[in-house]
Amino acid sequence: MDKQNIVLVGFMGTGKTRTAQLLASQLSMDYVGIDDEIERREKMSINDIFRLKGESFFRKVEKEMVAFFSSGAGQVIDCGGGVVLDPENMRELGQSGHIFCLWADPAEIYRRVKDSPHRPLLNVEDPVEKIKQLLEERKEFYLKARFQVDTTGLSPLETVGEIRRILDVDGRQ
Ligand code: S3P
Repeated sequence: MDKQNIVLVGFMGTGKTRTAQLLASQLSMDYVGIDDEIERREKMSINDIFRLKGESFFRKVEKEMVAFFSSGAGQVIDCGGGVVLDPENMRELGQSGHIFCLWADPAEIYRRVKDSPHRPLLNVEDPVEKIKQLLEERKEFYLKARFQVDTTGLSPLETVGEIRRILDVDGRQ
């Protein structure tokens, strides 16, 4: 394995965090969670940042974190679902390593996120409809990642296996 980063992007609830943690441990790489780093720096939960400082402030800090960790190596970088919306984020992450986008169908996404406290964007009356709408709006951005993995029906361990298989076939080109 080279020392390039492995970057996971994709919608909320597609399994990025668990998959990134397992992948980092299997490959002896460092796990970096961009959301965790934002919370650590701001000393505030994602929910509170959205509530008290607003989404655009969150996106600004997120962008700084992406730039910082893109300059490191040997990391599995677990990105929040909106990282893809900024083309500079994608350019920097792409230069730093292999970008994988994880997918899942809306019903499975809902099942995975419904009890989660840190998805302020889904605190709405009809979260499934919101998931469908955001997925549709963001599809073109997620499709910019070089590698695409559908995790519907896959456990995080199986997703790790799929990513490693792709890296073995394509990753060193
Ligand atoms: C967001 C996804 C979240 C978190 C924030 C915004 C988004 O991360 O960054 O709530 O815009 O899709 P996860 O994808 O890890 O849930």
